Amino acid sequence: MMRTAIGFYKERAARLDVDGIDFDAFRDRPLSSDGLRCLRYMHDIEHHTICYLRDLLLTPAHRDPEVTAFLACWAYEELWHGEAIGQVLEAHGETAGAPRIAALRQRRGRRRRRLDWRNQVARPADGLPHPENRGRL
Ligand SMILES: [Fe+2]
Repeated sequence: MMRTAIGFYKERAARLDVDGIDFDAFRDRPLSSDGLRCLRYMHDIEHHTICYLRDLLLTPAHRDPEVTAFLACWAYEELWHGEAIGQVLEAHGETAGAPRIAALRQRRGRRRRRLDWRNQVARPADGLPHPENRGRL
C-alpha cells in the first residue's frame, strides 16, 4: 500500500525531544530582553494551537479524515513546542505553561465570547466564520 503524506506524518508525529537541552544554563547565561519577548510570543502561539484547531473544526474541513488526522498530530506536536519554550521562560524566572496561558485566555475571554456568539448565530451557509470575523480568530 502506498503511504500518503498524512500517513507518513502520522507515523512520525511525536513529543519534542528536549533531553539534550540544558535549560538551567539559561540561569547563568540569560537571553536578551528582545529574545525573551520573541519566546513569550512563540510560547503563547504554540499553546493557542488548540484554539485555532477548534476554529478550524467549525468549518467543513472537519469532514475530511486526512485533514483531521493532520490537525490532531499538529495540535499534539505544538503543545510540546510550547512546553519546551516554557521551560526556557521558567529558567528566566518567568511564568509559563498553564498558569500563563490560563491568564491570557481569561483576559481574552470577553472579546472571544462575543466573536463566538456571532460565529454561531450569524454563520453564513458556506460554513465559514462570519465574514467580519474571518482573519480575526
Ligand atoms: Fe511549533
